[in-house]
Amino acid sequence: MAKLQQAIHLNPVFEDFGIKQYVETGTGGILDSHGENSLLQVSQLDDPDLKMHSIEILQRIYDEAVKYFDNNSNVIMHHGNSHEELPKVIEELNEDPALFFFDAHFPDSYRDNMNREIINDDPDYIKIPLEGELRILSEKRDISRDIIVIDDIRIYRDGPYENGNFENKKEHGGENLDFVEELLDESHVIVESYLQEGYLICFPIDTDVEELRKYVVGAE
Ligand SMILES: C[S@@+](CC[C@H](N)C(=O)[O-])C[C@H]1O[C@@H](n2cnc3c(N)ncnc32)[C@H](O)[C@@H]1O
Repeated sequence: MAKLQQAIHLNPVFEDFGIKQYVETGTGGILDSHGENSLLQVSQLDDPDLKMHSIEILQRIYDEAVKYFDNNSNVIMHHGNSHEELPKVIEELNEDPALFFFDAHFPDSYRDNMNREIINDDPDYIKIPLEGELRILSEKRDISRDIIVIDDIRIYRDGPYENGNFENKKEHGGENLDFVEELLDESHVIVESYLQEGYLICFPIDTDVEELRKYVVGAE
């Protein structure tokens, strides 16, 4: 499973862009992540002013995170699907720059004895919620100073990804990523990374393109 720190270098990004709010859809497991869970890594940046919100649909994973971060009042967990919870989280944000990590998809998918991914037949707004999440965000917030990182773009289009194309794309994937360009093209520089399962990393439009090397994993 791909992680935020495999897309961007956390320290320079959070420091240079003055990120004081982190919002993630899809918490994922913490205890089985060998320390690599993205929320866990962000929480270790050790910035007392950084508020972190994470939205998770599965009760078991939500409960685990609540328990894990019991002593860290800067981590706020939200239980439910991202389309219902994201608008409420956006209401709670202030004007400080935020980093959004969109990583929610296929709740409770698992693998069969051939190691093929089995995906439950949830409606698309739960199964592949990205387009709705981005539409909610761009309607409800001035995102011009925010960074948006999108994981698993191979769900939407084929490409030379480090971990290959998505074998279930025809049945369970999205059609394309045109909505990202539609919603972010004027406000953001969009960088595509083929590492892991593919990322789109969207920086505020006035970011110096030469500087991006410092921030994007693999671009150094
Ligand atoms: C790939 S994992 C997240 C990994 C984590 N962000 C990390 O980088 O360490 C995806 C998570 O999204 C959750 N999820 C799937 N669909 C969701 C939805 N519609 N709303 C909220 N959470 C969802 C899944 O239950 C799973 O825990």
